[in-house]
Amino acid sequence: MSVTRESMHGQWSTRWAFILAATGSAVGLGNIWKFPYITGENGGGAFVVVYLICIAVIGIPIMMAEVMIGRRGRRSPINTMRALAKEGRHHPNWQWLGWAGVVAGFLILSYYSVIAGWAMAYVFRAGSSAFVGATADGIGTIFSDLISDPERLLAWHTIFMVITMAVVSRGVAKGLEKAVRYLMPALLVLLLLLLGYSMNSGAFAEGVAFMFAPNFSALSWNGVLIAMGHAFFTLSLGMGAIMVYGSYLPSDASIAKTSVIIALADTGVALIAGLAIFPIVFANGLPTGSGPGLIFQTLPLAFGHMPGGTFFGTLFFVLLVFAAWTSAISLIEPAVTWLVETLHMDRIKASVLTGFMAWFIGIGTVFSFNIWANNKVFGMTFFDFLDYLTANIMLPLGGLIIAVFAGWVMVRGTVKDELQIRNPRLFQTWYVLVRYVTPFAVVLVFIFKLRGDI
Ligand code: PFF
Repeated sequence: MSVTRESMHGQWSTRWAFILAATGSAVGLGNIWKFPYITGENGGGAFVVVYLICIAVIGIPIMMAEVMIGRRGRRSPINTMRALAKEGRHHPNWQWLGWAGVVAGFLILSYYSVIAGWAMAYVFRAGSSAFVGATADGIGTIFSDLISDPERLLAWHTIFMVITMAVVSRGVAKGLEKAVRYLMPALLVLLLLLLGYSMNSGAFAEGVAFMFAPNFSALSWNGVLIAMGHAFFTLSLGMGAIMVYGSYLPSDASIAKTSVIIALADTGVALIAGLAIFPIVFANGLPTGSGPGLIFQTLPLAFGHMPGGTFFGTLFFVLLVFAAWTSAISLIEPAVTWLVETLHMDRIKASVLTGFMAWFIGIGTVFSFNIWANNKVFGMTFFDFLDYLTANIMLPLGGLIIAVFAGWVMVRGTVKDELQIRNPRLFQTWYVLVRYVTPFAVVLVFIFKLRGDI
């Protein structure tokens, strides 16, 4: 029996609208800013191999599970989990997954917005030709001047958050579809342009070897956990973001196909970003492990030396801000839908409230790059700690619970009915992956990481 419930928050007009919006959520700072720097910090090739395996074996099956749960429930993640648990005569405690997701969303958005603020600041650096002819040292100074100034960071963080709240308050479906349709391909074109520049930088082979020749002795269990955590982060999984988007998906769209398309697009963008960045790193003798500043210290070098660099550089950072923004929207959407549904708050109020909370926590990240740089939580700055906690612990745990919910709690017939995979072998493969392989893999990585710590 198929269920024809509709979400009170609306529905995507077509399956492509969902693919665009979910790709907008998935493709963001995670692909262009985070993937290259964590690859650099964790030794390159072996890290990339583990990340790709995690996308295929854990990411895609869990994305299918999350979209499926969302579409079945057609509510905010908290209420969806509660309703579906009730439907299967299970304990309403499953709704806690939704709550954990809401918290993870706040925490991620709080620092995501600060980094998006860096990209906004760079629109103006690029636009004023600050990178033209600059040396690696000069570019390094531009970056350190920016992050050492809490007032400027706070201002950009605030602007980014206000824009995000403004869009969320108008409802996600409006505008997002169209904007993603044109701006995402434009971002891809600019990344390809950067790739072209890198190919001629003289160190392309070195960059490719760094990214794809695996050296497993360079990878620790902590690195494996980071690679797995990033698979969740980059696909926006484990916190209800994709679940909410799934709740607006028309009933006849194929969840398997759409999930594979989104994962391929997301992974493609990350790999192209890495291939564009590492040759520049090697050609300029920069350290691969320079951390969160990596793209802000390398890409301006390319823009500073290519013809039309001021124009392309400005456009690139505008598009990066846009990509961050389409992801940021999905980070607070679960909380907003819950406030609207359950507390009957109007959407504008709900967006302002959630945005304000994330903005407030974000002040900690702003300070972690300057006045709090030496204040450590578990040996990490506030920013590093939040990133580690959310991406490497909360999202994988959220994903694990989603897999268990889809594989063990929901009735098999319901799951099959909602997924509509016609090929029985394909369905069986997915079912085995979510029931056994993904939960086992996540637990195993946690155990090995903890053993490595002892
Ligand atoms: N996937 C986004 C990125 O790669 O930048 C970040 C993100 C968005 C993570 C939404 C989690 C999420 F729910």
